[in-house]
Amino acid sequence: MKKTLALALAAVMSLGLLAGCGPKEPANNGGSTTNPPSSASQPQGGDASSIPDAPAGGGTVGVCIYKFDDAFMTTYRNALQEILEGKGYKVTTVDGNNDQSKQNEQINTFITQGVDALIINPCMTSAADSIIATVKAAGVPTVLINREPTAEQMSAYDKLVYVGCDAAQSGTFQGELILETPNKGDINGDGKVSYIMIQGDPENIDAQLRTEYSVKALKDAGIEVEELDLQRGDWDREKGQTICANDLAQFGDQIEVVFCNNDDMAIGALQSIQAAGRKVNEDIYLVGVDALDAALNEVMNGNMTGTVLNDAVGQATAAVEEMEKLLGGATYSAGNQSVYVDYVKVTPDNAKDFVK
Ligand code: BGC
Repeated sequence: MKKTLALALAAVMSLGLLAGCGPKEPANNGGSTTNPPSSASQPQGGDASSIPDAPAGGGTVGVCIYKFDDAFMTTYRNALQEILEGKGYKVTTVDGNNDQSKQNEQINTFITQGVDALIINPCMTSAADSIIATVKAAGVPTVLINREPTAEQMSAYDKLVYVGCDAAQSGTFQGELILETPNKGDINGDGKVSYIMIQGDPENIDAQLRTEYSVKALKDAGIEVEELDLQRGDWDREKGQTICANDLAQFGDQIEVVFCNNDDMAIGALQSIQAAGRKVNEDIYLVGVDALDAALNEVMNGNMTGTVLNDAVGQATAAVEEMEKLLGGATYSAGNQSVYVDYVKVTPDNAKDFVK
């Protein structure tokens, strides 16, 4: 397999040389990807006109997931596996158990085995420099997913691209979901919205930006806000449940809004809300992100105010597209190494459209 790909690439490269083409803009980002307005940028690629797509089924791919025991990343990795296998790639997906040193070993093993490409969901964003240095030294084309490094970090290696979403957008949508309620989140009519924030892993930019932008959307609309509590729930359902239970015990009716950085924590929070005899959309609001099936059901049942689609299939599709561009010889220039898939606001009106 690998040999075939290498031969195909050699042929492709000599074609490119014959055509005498220097680097140019790629044709586009591919079907389902769009760039957010703020940081809009098309990835730069090799000469898309002279470098055809890599032959489908032409290689082996190592996929590193930060931990299998994550609801959203489970949907994501299943989508990746299905898309890659559907295209004939030989795929091995490994569980990093949220342990960066374990994941480093897995990356090294894949490199030793001679994989043609890597797709990596880092355990820690702070490990990006060393991951990038490792894949660069080995010359393996790499797609980073889900945890976005800085543009500067990525600029170290031109056969590297990040596929994800603009996390600020999901936070803004959460704030808008609250603004769209009849009392704009101010259930008790005291002139301010009192909330608790259940955060994901704070090292993760998704957690940072959702926390910031959900509240910013309220403030930008002229709403006064009061933060009763902010705690890390590490994306975890049980932690979401515990944090919410403790906050309900401590703050009771003062809590008008429960912001959760993801749905799994929101589902946990919902259990505590129900156990405390509170009723979502009547005496408390609850929002998440991801549009997990369980959350979509709760949105349709009126037990969650809303959520935000974090498009796992769209991101997996884009990640494979970018991987194939890299396998086809494309390179990316500094500042143009992020590809974003849009988030979508989910309310009871459109929730059924997203059930898988
Ligand atoms: C998702 C979370 C997930 C996290 C993993 C986020 O984008 O919303 O559900 O736990 O990624 O890094």
